[in-house]
Amino acid sequence: MSRKTSVLFVCLGNICRSPLAEAAFRAACERAGVEMEIDSAGTGDWHIGNAPDKRAQATARRHGIDISAYRARQVSQEDFSRFSHIVAMDSNNLEDLRDLQPAASTAKLSMMLEHVDGHRGRSVADPYFGGEEGFEITWKDVSRAADALLERLRQ
Ligand code: 4NP
Repeated sequence: MSRKTSVLFVCLGNICRSPLAEAAFRAACERAGVEMEIDSAGTGDWHIGNAPDKRAQATARRHGIDISAYRARQVSQEDFSRFSHIVAMDSNNLEDLRDLQPAASTAKLSMMLEHVDGHRGRSVADPYFGGEEGFEITWKDVSRAADALLERLRQ
């Protein structure tokens, strides 16, 4: 793995899926003893400065991780040079990132679940408008994708 590998996880609001993806990937890196720059951001600006959704916080807590200090921010132009890999939660996020990416940026864009065998093209479903159980599905999706992504980056 390149010493400069760094990963930004992106969803729409940066309060549900991408904070959980960030948490799962941080945990995977910790377990593997790998250090790298990791962050998350949203394509939208509605929740800038907010803590993760309470249901996302509760889900992370159930899995032993405290994300209450995370704060939402919006993707910036700078992110495209700061991070080597930018990982979108769904196909809309990926399209928005492609539109925002400066021509000179070499950041590799991908979708979270494409790192899991057999899940190419699948989005991490947005749990925002559903119940708490949807967040558990989000956790399952992002944690197995986080493991698979780290595995790929280490090859
Ligand atoms: P996220 O979920 O993109 O996973 O953080 C959402 C959060 C907020 C909204 C939509 C999705 N919203 O419409 O405010």
